[in-house]
Amino acid sequence: MNKKITIAGAGNVGASIAQMILSKGIGDVVLLDIAEGIPQGKALDLRQSIPLYGHDCKITGTNSYKETADSDIVIITAGLARKPGMSRDDLLKANAEIVKSVTREVVRQSTKSIIIIVTNPLDLMTYIASEISGFPKNKVLGMGGVLDSARFISFIAEELNVSIGKINTMVIGNHGDMMVPLPRYTTVSGTPVTELLPGEKIERLVERTRKAGTEIVGLLKTGSAFYAPAAATVAMADAILNNKKKTLPCSAYLDGEYGVKGIYAGVPVVLGTGGVEKIIELELTEEEKNSFHKSIEAVREGMKLLKGLA
Ligand code: NAI
Ligand code: 2OP
Repeated sequence: MNKKITIAGAGNVGASIAQMILSKGIGDVVLLDIAEGIPQGKALDLRQSIPLYGHDCKITGTNSYKETADSDIVIITAGLARKPGMSRDDLLKANAEIVKSVTREVVRQSTKSIIIIVTNPLDLMTYIASEISGFPKNKVLGMGGVLDSARFISFIAEELNVSIGKINTMVIGNHGDMMVPLPRYTTVSGTPVTELLPGEKIERLVERTRKAGTEIVGLLKTGSAFYAPAAATVAMADAILNNKKKTLPCSAYLDGEYGVKGIYAGVPVVLGTGGVEKIIELELTEEEKNSFHKSIEAVREGMKLLKGLA
């Protein structure tokens, strides 16, 4: 039987995730949205692409949560996207309400699924989904670090004019301007990037990574990035559904790891059918620890705002 993947939110990110899942034949997709006709129309269009991929996965577009029953994974992208001048936190109030209501509905239908959150502000929305679902913490996680790492890799590859496939990196912390790209854990064919580029050049690439989402918002003017975010989400879903045991940076619940307790933030985790099967604790220098803890502080500030809204 095919795996069943529900995508709540059939906007730019959600529809792109659906398209990528179908093109890879990862499983059957249910595309759900509050807007009538949108998920149905996009699903119909996407269904007509399946014969060209040569597999038998299915896609359904719907406004009804009943269709999402017994999903293996639920991906939540429902919410507002950033416009120029808006920070991810400006989205907090509106998206908190949306993520609460969507989570309540999806868990009624799928009691054993894994939930991946995409909606911003990412670490806070993941926390909300975790609280509302009541699911084990390892079964609710957020997509941020996979995207941020892909962005850092693309900038390094461009700078060095080398193959992207030879670059490994790790970006931890919050999915926001205080994220922590780790040059010391970044290698090009095994050589640390710190030996290949001068410090100030690396710092410029780190800064560009932190602002990469904003750079795209500034160009698009009507919304935020969606192709790379969708690809990052599909990489996580694929690792979970196919039990790949991949180590990827995801927003995970920290219960003392890295000296942090009670919040969601980006750290390297092993992804498999159990969801977050393990949190990897990297050795960090004092400087890296300081940056990580500043990033965690930004999440804690958001948590205070969240509690104020409750
Ligand atoms: P979009 O505006 O294209 O799509 C959002 C969709 O959510 C719309 O179709 C809307 O009708 C739907 N929606 C709103 N309320 C809903 C509800 N109660 N139930 C079901 N559907 C509902 O936005 P886009 O570009 O797809 O972004 C979606 C979210 O993902 C935003 O919050 C954005 O900031 C976030 N995002 C996060 C990234 C990350 O790295 N974590 C990367 C890119 C986007
Ligand atoms: C991004 O990083 C908006 O979070 C989204 O592009």
